[in-house]
Amino acid sequence: MTRVFSGVKPTGHLTLGNYLGAMRQWATVDQHRAEALFCIVDLHALTVDHDPARVRRLSRQAATLLLAAGLDPRLCTVFVQSHVDEHARLSYLLECVATDGEMRRMIQYKEKAAREQRRGGSVRLSLLTYPVLMAADILAYRADEVPVGDDQVQHVELTRDLAVRFNQRYGHTFVVPRATRPKVAARVMNLQDPTAKMGKSDDTGPGIVYLLDEPDVVRKKVMRAVTDSGRDVVYDRESRPGVANLLEILAACSGGNPAALGGVYESYGALKKDTAEAVVEVLRPVQERHKELCADPGYVEGVLRDGAERARAMSRPTVDAAYRAIGLLPAGVDGGALG
Ligand code: TYM
Repeated sequence: MTRVFSGVKPTGHLTLGNYLGAMRQWATVDQHRAEALFCIVDLHALTVDHDPARVRRLSRQAATLLLAAGLDPRLCTVFVQSHVDEHARLSYLLECVATDGEMRRMIQYKEKAAREQRRGGSVRLSLLTYPVLMAADILAYRADEVPVGDDQVQHVELTRDLAVRFNQRYGHTFVVPRATRPKVAARVMNLQDPTAKMGKSDDTGPGIVYLLDEPDVVRKKVMRAVTDSGRDVVYDRESRPGVANLLEILAACSGGNPAALGGVYESYGALKKDTAEAVVEVLRPVQERHKELCADPGYVEGVLRDGAERARAMSRPTVDAAYRAIGLLPAGVDGGALG
């Protein structure tokens, strides 16, 4: 059976981009057709300036939202990265396979490091090595597929390179995974700056629709979205990024096709109005279920406990095999492990 792994980082409140680009696919498709694991990757949240209490809060919230979005613990495994030691264990081995140059070429590293420096802060070493930890997340489970939005594809490509290199040098240990992307809305853009991704840790609140935004807040944000000069509604990401973004969001929420929807509208106002309502309707059931789950925190905790147990059992043999393959002496003496 195909195995799927993906994750979400608790560095901010989850957004419409996270939902349309990743979570919805996990809930409606992946968990039904594959053996799937979904992880709240809290160790990754420590790569930038962070507040410990906030990371804890956001981790719990992300877990609750994943379940609210429809992940079903009877069908898939939902867990928190730091509850399973294998991720950090494997990450170190992969650091011994990756190169410094490879890390510095990662677009997200370049962007985030530049942003940190502009703010006068220092860049954590873990920001540089972050994609190696991400590779460990995926490879520890021998995942075949990694459903992600556009911005994570480069990291999955790196994961493939590391898996191939490790296998060639030390013997076949890892499955070489591939990224999968949704057909529309693989890169939802910021409503106030349609040339930038809608990112949960950005500062431009009015351009970001959060999954827990009240319907009226969603409407206001969409109605105020920056559009382009010109009047006709056409789908062209290059010359009309604002309108193209709205068409993609509408298509993703209503099941249509962005280019075809372009022909339906005669004004930006009408497009915005329908997009706002489509987003409100998509978020409504998620928000309702989120409210129910918040009333039962014991349930979410139980899901995460069981998930971590399953994830440990799944990843342990592969990480142990990688330790042996790379030349580390096994610790156990029973069964002639030292022989
Ligand atoms: P993160 O937390 O930034 O995002 C979680 C998922 O949401 C997708 N996404 C988007 N898709 C479309 N439009 C957007 N504006 C948008 N913003 C976010 C992301 O592509 C992602 O699929 N490094 C990862 C987390 C991670 C991971 C992993 C993912 C760690 N280990 C292993 C897959 C496998 C991240 O920061 O995602």
